[in-house]
Amino acid sequence: MLKILVIHGPNLNLLGTREPGIYGRQTLKDINARLLKEAKDRDVSLTAVQTNSEGEIITLLQKARGKFDGIIINPAAFTHYSYAIYDTILAIGIPTIEVHLSNIHKREEFRRKSVIAPACLGQICGFGFRSYLLALSVLIDIIKEKK
Ligand code: DQA
Repeated sequence: MLKILVIHGPNLNLLGTREPGIYGRQTLKDINARLLKEAKDRDVSLTAVQTNSEGEIITLLQKARGKFDGIIINPAAFTHYSYAIYDTILAIGIPTIEVHLSNIHKREEFRRKSVIAPACLGQICGFGFRSYLLALSVLIDIIKEKK
């Protein structure tokens, strides 16, 4: 069975009440429930984790080696400056997709750049919680094609 790890970065535990005009009204629990249902329908095992700490994201990524076939990550604000997360994604060599709820390209200037996307298969942003569902669908397809 394919194993997918979903990592939600800082402040995503506040979804539902955090700037709902930008991030929507769905809570992280709602999003994880949608992801788990989708994964189950496609016969895939999915683990979702949220952390506010950059170091913890790095440790989660390092420990994913040999355990997960693919990763979906919303690095939140770390997207824009964490070369450490970029390095780790390259180091572990697990297919990874970066996601964002909001369209980072039509927001403040500092959000338009992702230093992490170049280490990923691609980036999906701007579709609210559906960004995660799109990422899951395409990641499963890509991993299955390679097997
Ligand atoms: C975000 C976009 C980031 O710029 C921001 O710092 C977040 C959430 C998104 O999902 O739209 O925390 O990653």
